[in-house]
Amino acid sequence: MLAKLLQEAKSVVVFTGAGMSTESGLPDFRSSDGLWQQTNPQRIASVAALNDNVEQFFEFYRTRVQGVTGCEPHKGHHILAKWQAEGIIDTIITQNVDGFHTAANSSDVLELHGTLRTVHCQSCQKEYSNMMYEKRAYYCTCGGTLRPSVVLFGEMLDHSVVLQSVKQSESADVFIVLGSSLSVSPANQFPLLAYKHGATLVIINEEETPYDHLAALVVRNEKIGDFLVRIDNELHS
Ligand code: APR
Repeated sequence: MLAKLLQEAKSVVVFTGAGMSTESGLPDFRSSDGLWQQTNPQRIASVAALNDNVEQFFEFYRTRVQGVTGCEPHKGHHILAKWQAEGIIDTIITQNVDGFHTAANSSDVLELHGTLRTVHCQSCQKEYSNMMYEKRAYYCTCGGTLRPSVVLFGEMLDHSVVLQSVKQSESADVFIVLGSSLSVSPANQFPLLAYKHGATLVIINEEETPYDHLAALVVRNEKIGDFLVRIDNELHS
């Protein structure tokens, strides 16, 4: 069914969450072994933490930077990049900050929550490689604090990324969610927006999401990597 949908669609948006990168070795957030099962995000991944809890903030994000630099995109990321090159899918909207879609040579990737690939100064905005965090170099030459270029809880998303994501979601014929609990707004509004504008919603996620009842297809008992390999085989058989 999905292979046929993809062949007939004019505009296909893929929306990914942390479940897209667990098969690369990165933890997600809300699964039983997810990051937020051990850590309260408001205490560690927020602007308040950067101001009041900075040592723990540094260590938490240094561990995540090491995770991202120590892992790499898996077969699923490469299939999505291939599908973009073949014109099967168009924009990828991701909540992930690991940069794996771009590392797999995907183009047209909208990073709703920013990226762990760089850090920047909280005072003068100067940008550095995330290697600074690997080296525990946490301060800018201006003396300001360096922080990952991710959207922290309590911060606004980048306005132009949101506008582009709205535009792509509203014009999608097919909107495919891969590996997200769809529990964080405003990111979780994009599948809803696409659906309300007539898109066929497809959700591939090991656990239930609040929007499963709107989806034409929900796949829960198949890993994303295996699912993408299977559909890729169907598309090219
Ligand atoms: N295949 C299919 N589904 C998977 C896989 C997999 N290999 N691995 C994990 N999942 C599913 C989990 O069951 C879970 O429901 O992916 C989902 C990931 O959900 P979350 O951990 O909530 O991650 P996400 O939806 O991306 O979180 C959104 O929350 O903390 C913020 O900024 C953070 O971007 C993140 C946002």
